[in-house]
Amino acid sequence: MKTTTLLAALTLGVADLVQGHYIFQQFGVGSTKFSVYQHIRKNTNQNSPVTSLSSPDLRCNVGGNSGASTTVASIKAGDAFTFRTDQAVYHQGPISLYMSKAPGSVQDYDGSGDWFKIYDWGPSFSGGNPTWPLRSDYTYNIPKCIANGEYLLRIQSLAIHNPGSTPQWYVSCAQVNVTGGGNANPSPTVKIPGAFKASDPGYTANIYNNFKSYTVPGPSVFSC
Ligand SMILES: *[C@@H]1O[C@H](CO)[C@@H](O)[C@H](O)[C@H]1NC(C)=O
Repeated sequence: MKTTTLLAALTLGVADLVQGHYIFQQFGVGSTKFSVYQHIRKNTNQNSPVTSLSSPDLRCNVGGNSGASTTVASIKAGDAFTFRTDQAVYHQGPISLYMSKAPGSVQDYDGSGDWFKIYDWGPSFSGGNPTWPLRSDYTYNIPKCIANGEYLLRIQSLAIHNPGSTPQWYVSCAQVNVTGGGNANPSPTVKIPGAFKASDPGYTANIYNNFKSYTVPGPSVFSC
Protein backbone atom coordinates (compact mmCIF):
# COMPACT_ATOMS: atom_id res chain seq x y z
CA MET A 1 0.00 0.00 0.00
CA LYS A 2 2.79 2.30 0.97
CA THR A 3 4.64 1.44 -2.25
CA THR A 4 1.52 2.04 -4.30
CA THR A 5 1.00 5.47 -2.75
CA LEU A 6 4.61 6.38 -3.28
CA LEU A 7 4.47 5.21 -6.89
CA ALA A 8 1.28 7.13 -7.46
CA ALA A 9 2.91 10.26 -6.03
CA LEU A 10 5.99 9.78 -8.19
CA THR A 11 3.90 9.22 -11.30
CA LEU A 12 1.89 12.33 -10.54
CA GLY A 13 5.09 14.27 -10.05
CA VAL A 14 6.43 13.30 -13.45
CA ALA A 15 3.08 13.98 -15.11
CA ASP A 16 3.02 17.42 -13.49
CA LEU A 17 6.52 18.16 -14.68
CA VAL A 18 5.73 17.18 -18.24
CA GLN A 19 2.41 18.97 -18.26
CA GLY A 20 3.89 22.08 -16.71
CA HIS A 21 5.57 23.15 -19.93
CA TYR A 22 5.43 22.86 -23.70
CA ILE A 23 7.73 22.20 -26.62
CA PHE A 24 7.77 23.22 -30.29
CA GLN A 25 8.07 19.71 -31.64
CA GLN A 26 6.48 19.72 -35.07
CA PHE A 27 7.36 21.59 -38.23
CA GLY A 28 5.40 22.19 -41.38
CA VAL A 29 5.87 23.81 -44.77
CA GLY A 30 2.79 25.18 -46.50
CA SER A 31 -0.06 22.79 -45.79
CA THR A 32 2.31 19.84 -45.17
CA LYS A 33 2.79 18.88 -41.52
CA PHE A 34 5.82 16.71 -40.89
CA SER A 35 5.92 14.14 -38.13
CA VAL A 36 6.98 15.12 -34.64
CA TYR A 37 10.67 16.11 -34.59
CA GLN A 38 11.05 15.60 -38.35
CA HIS A 39 13.38 18.44 -39.45
CA ILE A 40 13.44 19.74 -35.83
CA ARG A 41 16.50 19.11 -33.68
CA LYS A 42 15.61 16.70 -30.91
CA ASN A 43 16.10 18.21 -27.48
CA THR A 44 16.93 16.16 -24.40
CA ASN A 45 15.02 18.15 -21.77
CA GLN A 46 11.48 16.99 -22.62
CA ASN A 47 9.39 20.14 -22.66
CA SER A 48 11.32 22.11 -20.06
CA PRO A 49 12.65 25.61 -20.64
CA VAL A 50 16.16 27.04 -20.74
CA THR A 51 16.67 29.70 -18.09
CA SER A 52 20.31 30.78 -18.52
CA LEU A 53 20.99 33.90 -20.59
CA SER A 54 24.58 32.81 -21.22
CA SER A 55 24.08 29.20 -22.24
CA PRO A 56 24.51 27.97 -25.83
CA ASP A 57 21.36 25.96 -25.09
CA LEU A 58 19.48 29.19 -25.79
CA ARG A 59 20.16 28.59 -29.49
CA CYS A 60 18.40 25.31 -30.15
CA ASN A 61 17.49 24.00 -26.68
CA VAL A 62 19.27 21.43 -24.50
CA GLY A 63 20.66 18.71 -26.75
CA GLY A 64 20.10 20.81 -29.88
CA ASN A 65 23.73 21.70 -30.47
CA SER A 66 24.10 19.21 -33.27
CA GLY A 67 21.75 18.37 -36.09
CA ALA A 68 23.59 15.38 -37.51
CA SER A 69 20.61 13.08 -37.02
CA THR A 70 18.01 15.65 -38.09
CA THR A 71 16.85 15.90 -41.69
CA VAL A 72 16.66 19.15 -43.65
CA ALA A 73 13.38 20.53 -44.99
CA SER A 74 13.24 22.14 -48.42
CA ILE A 75 11.49 25.47 -48.45
CA LYS A 76 11.15 28.25 -51.01
CA ALA A 77 11.91 31.80 -50.04
CA GLY A 78 8.54 33.42 -49.36
CA ASP A 79 6.88 30.14 -48.42
CA ALA A 80 4.92 29.68 -45.22
CA PHE A 81 6.11 27.43 -42.45
CA THR A 82 4.60 26.44 -39.10
CA PHE A 83 5.93 25.43 -35.71
CA ARG A 84 3.48 23.46 -33.57
CA THR A 85 3.69 22.74 -29.85
CA ASP A 86 2.72 19.59 -27.97
CA GLN A 87 0.15 21.67 -26.11
CA ALA A 88 -0.77 25.29 -26.68
CA VAL A 89 1.67 27.88 -25.37
CA TYR A 90 0.11 29.16 -22.15
CA HIS A 91 2.82 31.23 -20.44
CA GLN A 92 2.45 34.89 -21.27
CA GLY A 93 5.30 36.41 -23.22
CA PRO A 94 6.43 37.11 -26.77
CA ILE A 95 7.11 34.53 -29.48
CA SER A 96 9.93 35.30 -31.93
CA LEU A 97 11.45 33.71 -35.04
CA TYR A 98 15.15 33.82 -35.90
CA MET A 99 17.33 32.46 -38.69
CA SER A 100 21.05 31.77 -38.98
CA LYS A 101 22.80 30.69 -42.17
CA ALA A 102 25.04 27.68 -41.80
CA PRO A 103 28.58 28.12 -43.14
CA GLY A 104 28.24 24.68 -44.74
CA SER A 105 25.82 21.89 -43.95
CA VAL A 106 23.24 22.89 -41.35
CA GLN A 107 23.49 19.39 -39.91
CA ASP A 108 27.03 20.29 -38.77
CA TYR A 109 26.20 23.81 -37.63
CA ASP A 110 26.13 24.66 -33.92
CA GLY A 111 24.40 28.03 -34.30
CA SER A 112 27.42 30.04 -33.12
CA GLY A 113 27.26 32.42 -36.10
CA ASP A 114 25.05 35.42 -36.82
CA TRP A 115 21.30 35.37 -36.20
CA PHE A 116 18.68 37.72 -37.55
CA LYS A 117 15.10 38.04 -36.41
CA ILE A 118 12.29 37.64 -38.92
CA TYR A 119 9.20 38.05 -36.73
CA ASP A 120 7.83 38.91 -33.28
CA TRP A 121 4.45 38.08 -31.88
CA GLY A 122 4.00 40.52 -29.02
CA PRO A 123 1.00 41.49 -26.94
CA SER A 124 -1.81 43.63 -28.21
CA PHE A 125 -3.36 46.12 -25.84
CA SER A 126 -7.05 46.79 -25.80
CA GLY A 127 -8.62 48.96 -23.13
CA GLY A 128 -5.32 48.76 -21.26
CA ASN A 129 -5.43 44.96 -21.11
CA PRO A 130 -2.81 42.87 -22.86
CA THR A 131 -3.65 39.89 -25.01
CA TRP A 132 -0.79 37.50 -25.70
CA PRO A 133 -0.56 35.30 -28.80
CA LEU A 134 -1.00 32.00 -26.93
CA ARG A 135 -1.79 29.02 -29.14
CA SER A 136 -0.26 25.85 -30.67
CA ASP A 137 0.55 26.92 -34.23
CA TYR A 138 2.84 29.77 -35.26
CA THR A 139 2.96 30.38 -38.99
CA TYR A 140 5.10 32.84 -40.89
CA ASN A 141 6.99 33.11 -44.19
CA ILE A 142 10.66 32.76 -45.10
CA PRO A 143 11.82 36.24 -46.22
CA LYS A 144 11.71 36.34 -50.01
CA CYS A 145 15.05 38.12 -50.43
CA ILE A 146 17.44 36.00 -48.35
CA ALA A 147 20.17 33.95 -49.99
CA ASN A 148 19.69 30.32 -50.93
CA GLY A 149 21.28 27.82 -48.63
CA GLU A 150 20.94 25.93 -45.39
CA TYR A 151 19.71 27.68 -42.26
CA LEU A 152 18.70 27.08 -38.70
CA LEU A 153 15.16 28.40 -38.29
CA ARG A 154 14.51 29.04 -34.63
CA ILE A 155 11.37 29.74 -32.64
CA GLN A 156 11.40 31.05 -29.08
CA SER A 157 8.68 31.59 -26.52
CA LEU A 158 9.93 33.85 -23.74
CA ALA A 159 7.77 33.14 -20.71
CA ILE A 160 7.48 36.14 -18.40
CA HIS A 161 4.34 35.02 -16.58
CA ASN A 162 6.05 35.07 -13.20
CA PRO A 163 7.52 38.56 -12.60
CA GLY A 164 10.47 38.50 -10.20
CA SER A 165 11.31 34.90 -11.06
CA THR A 166 13.75 33.92 -13.79
CA PRO A 167 11.98 34.02 -17.15
CA GLN A 168 11.88 30.84 -19.20
CA TRP A 169 12.90 30.26 -22.80
CA TYR A 170 11.15 27.59 -24.84
CA VAL A 171 13.14 27.12 -28.03
CA SER A 172 13.40 24.76 -30.98
CA CYS A 173 15.30 24.87 -34.26
CA ALA A 174 14.26 23.47 -37.61
CA GLN A 175 16.82 22.77 -40.33
CA VAL A 176 15.82 24.25 -43.69
CA ASN A 177 17.28 24.50 -47.17
CA VAL A 178 16.08 27.74 -48.77
CA THR A 179 15.73 27.88 -52.55
CA GLY A 180 14.52 30.60 -54.91
CA GLY A 181 15.86 33.35 -52.67
CA GLY A 182 17.65 36.62 -53.40
CA ASN A 183 20.86 38.29 -52.36
CA ALA A 184 19.94 40.33 -49.28
CA ASN A 185 22.35 40.53 -46.40
CA PRO A 186 19.97 40.41 -43.41
CA SER A 187 20.66 42.81 -40.53
CA PRO A 188 20.89 43.56 -37.70
CA THR A 189 22.50 40.36 -36.54
CA VAL A 190 23.18 39.08 -33.04
CA LYS A 191 24.86 36.13 -31.37
CA ILE A 192 23.00 33.69 -29.18
CA PRO A 193 23.73 33.73 -26.31
CA GLY A 194 24.45 37.44 -26.08
CA ALA A 195 21.34 38.81 -27.74
CA PHE A 196 19.36 38.93 -24.52
CA LYS A 197 20.32 40.81 -21.35
CA ALA A 198 18.97 40.57 -17.83
CA SER A 199 18.33 44.32 -18.03
CA ASP A 200 16.15 44.12 -21.16
CA PRO A 201 12.84 45.83 -20.35
CA GLY A 202 11.02 43.01 -22.11
CA TYR A 203 12.76 40.51 -19.84
CA THR A 204 12.05 42.25 -16.53
CA ALA A 205 8.54 43.53 -17.35
CA ASN A 206 5.83 43.03 -14.77
CA ILE A 207 2.90 42.12 -16.98
CA TYR A 208 0.39 42.44 -14.12
CA ASN A 209 1.27 45.91 -12.89
CA ASN A 210 0.56 49.03 -14.93
CA PHE A 211 1.45 47.11 -18.05
CA LYS A 212 0.72 49.39 -21.00
CA SER A 213 3.44 48.76 -23.56
CA TYR A 214 6.04 46.13 -24.29
CA THR A 215 9.32 45.85 -26.16
CA VAL A 216 10.19 42.34 -27.35
CA PRO A 217 13.83 41.50 -26.45
CA GLY A 218 16.41 41.00 -29.18
CA PRO A 219 17.31 42.89 -32.35
CA SER A 220 14.81 44.64 -34.57
CA VAL A 221 13.01 42.51 -37.11
CA PHE A 222 14.60 42.13 -40.53
CA SER A 223 12.30 42.40 -43.49
CA CYS A 224 13.09 42.48 -47.20
C1 LIG B 1 19.48 22.44 -51.08
O1 LIG B 1 18.91 22.82 -52.31
C2 LIG B 1 19.83 22.81 -53.39
C3 LIG B 1 19.10 23.39 -54.61
O2 LIG B 1 17.98 22.63 -54.90
C4 LIG B 1 20.33 21.39 -53.61
O3 LIG B 1 21.28 21.40 -54.65
C5 LIG B 1 20.97 20.88 -52.33
O4 LIG B 1 21.32 19.53 -52.49
C6 LIG B 1 19.99 21.01 -51.19
N1 LIG B 1 20.64 20.63 -49.94
C7 LIG B 1 20.03 19.90 -49.01
C8 LIG B 1 20.81 19.60 -47.80
O5 LIG B 1 18.88 19.53 -49.11
